[in-house]
Amino acid sequence: MRKYLIFGIIYFLLLSACSKQDTTASKADKFVNDLMSKMNLQEKIGQLNQCTSRWEMTGPAPKNDNIQNQLDNIKNGKVGSMLNVNGASETYEAQKLAVENSRLGIPMMFAYDVIHGYKTMFPIPLAEASSWEPEMAKLSAEVAAKEASAAGLHWTFAPMMDVGRDARWGRVMEGCGEDPYLASIFSLARVQGFQGDDLSDDYTIAACAKHFAAYGFSESGRDYNTVDIGSYTLHNIVLPPFKAVANSGVATFMNSFNIINGTPATANKYLQRDLLKGEWKYEGFVVSDWGSIEEVAYHGAAKDLKKAAERCLNAGSDMDMESDAYLPYLKELVAEGKVDENLIDDAVRRILKIKYKLGLFDDPYKYSNPEREKERIYNEENRSAARKVAKRSMVLLKNNRQILPLSKEIKSLAIIGPLANDKDVPLGSWRAKAITNSAVSLLEGVKAAVSPNTKINYAKGCDLTVGERSFLQELTYNNNDRSEFSEAIKAAKQSEVVLLTIGEDCWQTGEARSQTDIQLKGLQMELFHAIRKVNKNVVVVLMNGRPIAIPELAEKADAILETWFAGSESGNAIADVLFGDYNPAGKLTMSFPRNVGQCPIYYNHMKTGRPTPSGNVFWSHYTDAPNTPLFPFGYGLSYTNFTYSQVKIDKESYQLNESIKLSLLLSNTGKYEGEEVVQVYIQAPSASFARPVKELKAFKKIKLAVNEERKIIFELNQKDLGYYSPEGEFLFESGDYNIYVGTNSQEVQKIVVSFIQ
Ligand code: BGC
Repeated sequence: MRKYLIFGIIYFLLLSACSKQDTTASKADKFVNDLMSKMNLQEKIGQLNQCTSRWEMTGPAPKNDNIQNQLDNIKNGKVGSMLNVNGASETYEAQKLAVENSRLGIPMMFAYDVIHGYKTMFPIPLAEASSWEPEMAKLSAEVAAKEASAAGLHWTFAPMMDVGRDARWGRVMEGCGEDPYLASIFSLARVQGFQGDDLSDDYTIAACAKHFAAYGFSESGRDYNTVDIGSYTLHNIVLPPFKAVANSGVATFMNSFNIINGTPATANKYLQRDLLKGEWKYEGFVVSDWGSIEEVAYHGAAKDLKKAAERCLNAGSDMDMESDAYLPYLKELVAEGKVDENLIDDAVRRILKIKYKLGLFDDPYKYSNPEREKERIYNEENRSAARKVAKRSMVLLKNNRQILPLSKEIKSLAIIGPLANDKDVPLGSWRAKAITNSAVSLLEGVKAAVSPNTKINYAKGCDLTVGERSFLQELTYNNNDRSEFSEAIKAAKQSEVVLLTIGEDCWQTGEARSQTDIQLKGLQMELFHAIRKVNKNVVVVLMNGRPIAIPELAEKADAILETWFAGSESGNAIADVLFGDYNPAGKLTMSFPRNVGQCPIYYNHMKTGRPTPSGNVFWSHYTDAPNTPLFPFGYGLSYTNFTYSQVKIDKESYQLNESIKLSLLLSNTGKYEGEEVVQVYIQAPSASFARPVKELKAFKKIKLAVNEERKIIFELNQKDLGYYSPEGEFLFESGDYNIYVGTNSQEVQKIVVSFIQ
């Protein structure tokens, strides 16, 4: 009886939650329909226009460079959204122009690239993914949204969910790495963090799933380059994260710069209208990327801007970011019968609904609150969250002789390297409103952690770059100035252990930062060799935003800690790990190649018809390097040891509708409490279509005390084991499946299961 009562209560609660949602939805529809009935065509087109403010540039020069003209447009209801305006009073002033002057007073939506923090910087997204804890990405997005919403922002252009297989591409720092399953889980967490449960809360903002689609596959890793992938890769690797967030209510999508199957993504009807808004029934809106409507003509897929506007609107690009294509041409195109006014209505309705959900029609200024801005931004609470996420994002790549963790009582420590006392690089690229030079440097973090008796010998050794560094400029590397080497060598000689902090400048990564060489730039390796000659205890602390080729370091350094660009609290978080206050548990989500020639390199590759050595040269390999990466996907060490035993499945064969229950015993056999990311991969050795050698399908991060052991159980069903045909049809087939479980994508135990029809 009690059971029925509980069931009844749950049913009632669910019903009332659903009907509450329905009422809100219908209220929104009614409001938007009423408003649209008052709008003329020009006002509707205005809603589809997004322009940048003069304050900041995140692309080439603004299209509409006439400020007076832009102000007039805002006042006349010809701007639906602005990007790059930020700050409570700035957004207030801009909003006032629209609300007080335009005929219908429709508020604008303010957007900004809040990628890994607004002012309090969290680790770059690639780093956060290395935590294998979606909760960390959620927390980081939540704090970013709290800060951004207090600065008048309504909308972030994040998360980026482009699968990145090529370390040459500078934007891999913005994503989750090479795996679509991880990208789905992390993107869902980020969307949840940004948007919360209600967009109208004053601490949530709308998220944007980008870049739709396949931008991560730019040929040879060169940004903005052509993409040429088959529909099999599109459906199985590129689209799953987008589908996941579309289904979970992400407010907006952004399309991408690249072509796909010969059609620029921005003008791609299949992607935007047929798939996203059709098959997936997506209700939010799609914004173009910066100038990507105009670029349709540069790709050679439209003769001019007007034709590009026609193609893109018809294809389902709802909002025009910085091409100034919709505003001047859509009216004409409707009159000429080339664009159906219903499609414009559809785009406007989508945009107004998001504005409604944000609560902008109740109070257009609700996010622009200077008091809240002061209180909420860059406070202690946010910084401590940033430190928590940062330490959990680091990956221990090597630890010979258990040189780490270091004792806080160590007598002397050399802190060397161009990035050792750098307070800017750890903030990373895409840093929104981070204060230049505001990160805790490694030197500061270590000094705060060690005993007062520890002698710190600091020497930079060399600079990484020379001249100006900025978001807009190319960098020049220091290849000649060795004048500070001798001091560094002296510091190394006088110390028990050296912490050598090297890597990339943060402006080597991010948009438009592709590289053909992913080794350490400048004199850094030379410095490493010079230091190692005089001190054999070298712990390398890496700061970088992409996988880098470091075979020599991997061989010769004693320990390597990958810290990525760890954000505002970088130095403190690194010290937490180096001195064992936190036992590192991060794992790589992108393979580290041995050299750039292996790129793109990724664990979930196809098998080839000649996969294994054949006794002569005629098999798929390189003659000058192994096929395997230096560090594989899923790899990362701990200060303790974990052993896997009793790997079992509950049956040997299953019906197609049954789930596999996989269990194993995980034991902490080392000397420290620690966390392990248990990873489960699958492979179908004989499917209708050739399948990858491994695919991640589940993982759990488990914390165990010393000597503790725990039974871990995973369930896998047809949703996990199936895949998409090149036509996008989901298939789940009977037959054998290899299930792999282990500590990374290479070190696994295998078990075979059969599915019978
Ligand atoms: C990038 C987008 C970004 C936009 C606005 C573009 O260049 O590709 O990811 O959101 O600029 O800053």
